[in-house]
Formats: sequence, C-alpha cells, structure tokens
Amino acid sequence: MEDNRPSWSSRLTFILAAVGSAVGLGNIWRFPYIMGQNGGAVFLIVYLALILTICFIPLFAELAVGKITKKECIGAFESVNPKFKFLGFLNPLTGVLVASFYFIVGGWIINYIALSFAQARIEDYSSYFVSFIQNSVSACGFTLIFLFICVWFTARGIKRGIEFANNVMMPMFAVILLGLIIFSLTLPNAHLGLEYMFKPDFSKINAHMFLAALGQALFTLSIGMGALLTYGSYIKEDKSILKSTYTIIFSDTLFALMAGIMIFPAIFSFGLEPNSGAGLVFITIPQIFAQIPYGNIVSAAFFILLFAAAITSGISIIEVPIASMVERLKISRTKACTILFFIIGLISVPATLSFGVLENFKLCGKTVFDFLDFTTSSILMPLNALFLCLIAGWFLKIRGNHFIQNKFFAFLFDIGLKFVIPVILVALLYIGLK
Ligand code: PHE
Repeated sequence: MEDNRPSWSSRLTFILAAVGSAVGLGNIWRFPYIMGQNGGAVFLIVYLALILTICFIPLFAELAVGKITKKECIGAFESVNPKFKFLGFLNPLTGVLVASFYFIVGGWIINYIALSFAQARIEDYSSYFVSFIQNSVSACGFTLIFLFICVWFTARGIKRGIEFANNVMMPMFAVILLGLIIFSLTLPNAHLGLEYMFKPDFSKINAHMFLAALGQALFTLSIGMGALLTYGSYIKEDKSILKSTYTIIFSDTLFALMAGIMIFPAIFSFGLEPNSGAGLVFITIPQIFAQIPYGNIVSAAFFILLFAAAITSGISIIEVPIASMVERLKISRTKACTILFFIIGLISVPATLSFGVLENFKLCGKTVFDFLDFTTSSILMPLNALFLCLIAGWFLKIRGNHFIQNKFFAFLFDIGLKFVIPVILVALLYIGLK
C-alpha cells in the first residue's frame, strides 16, 4: 500500500494546497472579528509576533513528521512507537469534529451566494441571519451541500481532486480579494479603517489578547489536526520543507492582512461597528452591500471569495480522516469518502440545529455547535500540537541543525520544539479548560 501512496505533482501544487488549507474562514471570517473584538492594531502586533516566533516550529514539525514517516496520522505516530497509535488517532477524530462545525459556516456562505444571485432585497440582515440559521431544513440542507462538495473533490484523489480544487480556487480567491480591496479602499473615509488596523493603542493590551492571538494563529495555520502532516506525507523525498514553511506562514499572514484591508475600510466608511463578533461578515458586511450600487454583484464576489477559501480548507480537514481510513482500513477512497459523508453529516445536523430546534440541548453547558468549537479549538488542537512537538523533538529527534545553517537559530529551534512550545501549549490548554 505504502509503495503506491499518492504524491503531489510538483512543489507548486503542494504549496498551493498547503496555503489553501491555511487560508480559510480563519482568515476572512474569524481573523477580522477576533481582531475587532480585541482592540485592532495591538492585537495585530501580538498576533504577528506569535506567528513569527512560536508558530513556525510546530508548523515545520508537522510537515516534517509527515514527510519523514510517509504515513497518515495514526501510522505516523505508530511508526515512532506503537504505543503512540492512540495519540495519532486523535487527529482524524479532531478532523471529523472540526468539519462538523466548520461546514455549517460553509453552508451559510452558499446560502448568501444564492441570495446575492437571487438579488434578494433584505431590510434587516441581523434578523435575516437569525431566521436563516434557525430554519432547520434550509440550514441543514446548505451544510450538507457544502459537505458534499468537499467530499466530492476529496474522493477524486490528490491530483484530480485536491490539486484541481486548489489550482482553480486559490487564483480565483486572490483575484477577487484584490478586486474587493481596491473597491474598499476607494470608499469615502477608508483611511479610518486602515488607522484602526495599523495604529496601535497600547492601553488595550491584556492577557486575554495573547490567548486569543495564539488560538487564532494555531487555527489559521492549520496546526494541531494533522492536515499538514497528511499533506506533508505526500511530499516527494527531494523537496525541502523549510522554504515551504516560510511560504505557508507568509501567505497566510498576507491573506489575513488583506482580508482586514478589505473589510475594515468598508466598515468604517459606512459608520458600522468592527466588533460585532461572528456576525461580522454575515450581518454587518451585507448591510454595506445593501447600500451600494451593484451591491448584489459585490456581495456575490465576496461570498464566492469566502466559499473558495472555505472549500480548500474543508478539503484539507477531511483529507485527514480519509487518508487514515484508506490506509488503515485498506478501503477505496470513494468508499472512505462515502462513509465519512454520513459520519460528518450525522454530527453536523444536530450542530446546525443547535441554532434552532436544539437551541436548549446542551453538552457541558454548551450548544452542540459551541461544544464542537470549544472541544476542538481549545482542547484537541492544542493537545494534538503538543503531542506532535513532543514526538518530533524527543522521539523522532528532529533537530534544527538538520536544516538550519546558523547554529544559534538551530539551537533556538531545538529548545522551542522540546520545551518552550510544549510549555506554552500546556498553558493554553490549562487556561482553555479553566
Ligand atoms: N486554517 C483553516 C482556516 O483558517 C482551518 C483549518 C484548521 C484547516 C485546521 C485545517 C486544519 O480556516
């Protein structure tokens, strides 16, 4: 089986897929609203500092473990020591749980694309959004459509499915994003949005901000779920992953900044609030589209942009359990994808309904959607990243001097991988669980 494992056609297609995984709802939906809630420019500074110093190491380690072991997550952990098989299993499990709530937002996006094409006139977006997410049949239907699209691409395999989706979606994403940035920057008072993003008010700095920035950084870089490990396992032997690590971090950060430059000037230009939370792109932004000429075309472009970003990340999320099922259970990709469609569908339906009929059904005091979000981003993802760093540093003995020329930086890498990052992740877990 291992001999005929799939691999990327070229370094470029791998980079596109890895950047496609990283750049997703985390950049366009989550980053602006978390930044909006945490004081704007200071948050950006903290976030950039964390990305450049801390997040580089686990990202590199994930790719390296995949490339060295050439196995999906369970096999990769097992090949280091059979006792670690269970720790590896947590990755595809996390993938299934992340997909079950991430794809709900994907469903909302499809609904908004349909709405833009239908040229629907909506008076009050906040009540529209609430009534849409409460409508069981349509909300579940859209979630399942999004799930189906991701599963369909993934079922077609690495080259015909995953590479194809990324080769089409990522350039489309970049072009639409640039177009929308130009549009946003030419609105009256656009500079107020840029000031909000880039003029820090240091009095707003606080401990919670560091936590929010670290959680955001891990999520947006796709760290802690085995997605990069799985993608890394399809890299051919002779390709360096150090350059890829830089490229992924640089592109992801650039796209997050570009998303901010697209969103904040428009928000300030129309006198809206940047701190409206998760509803920022579904309630606040559509109010802008309702007021401008050709608003429905701009709106369609914006939600297609979100769709492209969400699909390429969604594919990488489900590739983790699919690769495990194909390689462990020795079943075909199509069969694995079909089974996974039903498993994720079964979990995502109650999660979708948690905005409507299951609103009062609580797990540990949280709705199903919030429970999935919390257990994955606050517990499972930091936990997976922790196990991965420990295994890479202490057992696989990945060392900085294998790939970094400068002795001092190589030493910093080793200390980071073996001690600093694990300690930070334990602290993150502890605070998350408190
Ligand atoms: N990084 C993706 C985003 O920003 C989400 C993701 C998390 C994808 C974990 C894969 C693995 O939306």
